[in-house]
Amino acid sequence: MTSLPVVATPADLAAHLDPVRDAGGTVGFVPTMGALHDGHASLVDASVAGSDATVVSVFVNPLQFAAGEDLDAYPRDLDADTVRCAAHGATVVFAPTVDVMYPGGSPPSDEVVDPGPVALPLEGRERPTHFAGVAEVVARLFAAVGPCRAFFGEKDFQQLQVVRHLVAARDLPVDVVGCPTVREVDGLARSSRNVYLTAAERAAAPVLHRALLAGAAAVAEPGWDRTAVEGAMAATIAAEPTGALDYAVVVDPVTLRPPGSPVPGDELRLLVACRFGRARLIDNVGAIAG
Ligand code: PAF
Repeated sequence: MTSLPVVATPADLAAHLDPVRDAGGTVGFVPTMGALHDGHASLVDASVAGSDATVVSVFVNPLQFAAGEDLDAYPRDLDADTVRCAAHGATVVFAPTVDVMYPGGSPPSDEVVDPGPVALPLEGRERPTHFAGVAEVVARLFAAVGPCRAFFGEKDFQQLQVVRHLVAARDLPVDVVGCPTVREVDGLARSSRNVYLTAAERAAAPVLHRALLAGAAAVAEPGWDRTAVEGAMAATIAAEPTGALDYAVVVDPVTLRPPGSPVPGDELRLLVACRFGRARLIDNVGAIAG
């Protein structure tokens, strides 16, 4: 077993972080819901490489799950997560209970943090309360950790933009760092929800990355047409009978809305979401307009 400390309250966390800051050191923070995989490990590695202490939070946040979603089924294994954090050089695991994070119960919806306009399209349309729940817990986690660099995966690209909005809107002492998506050899983005895939769905799921790469290549061609690129991505995914497409879009990377009139060299983001049985998978890549 590991000697990595696991703490459950902000006061116990501060007991680990205050001496680091008092000595002039920096804190890196990796927020997670546990079920850690290589994608999370890459965030811990990035934090450890540039910080004097690294906190990994493990908290399955009820507020970001709607009724009927997979809150109860969400994979949980704090011992395995702690071993992985220790192997990657983290300093402390912050694993609060729901009562610690939400004393007095879940806040009423009109008191939850406003996740901003970037939360409205795409995942926000599919999961209308999701990003308010994410923004609320991330605000509370940032308050517990204090000034830090916080590492988020680009796999959840819209979440990353919501967190950037939160930090800017509240002027929080947090430097948000986006880190590249970690993939399986066949291109499937690492996700804690990949465990829900059956063998047939797992074999089909890399179609998301293939569609995104083809879309990014098409966008880089002079004279590209957004509707045609989105249609081609959708058709590629629809060709997989085990998947049910939610969206395949080319958007402005900041607003996540359709780009105005992109000119060659502009940065764009391609995002897809598709349900495979019990698993709803999302993925995205960057692209440069041709
Ligand atoms: O990306 C996640 O794992 C979660 O949405 C986060 C950021 C830890 C908030 O619960």
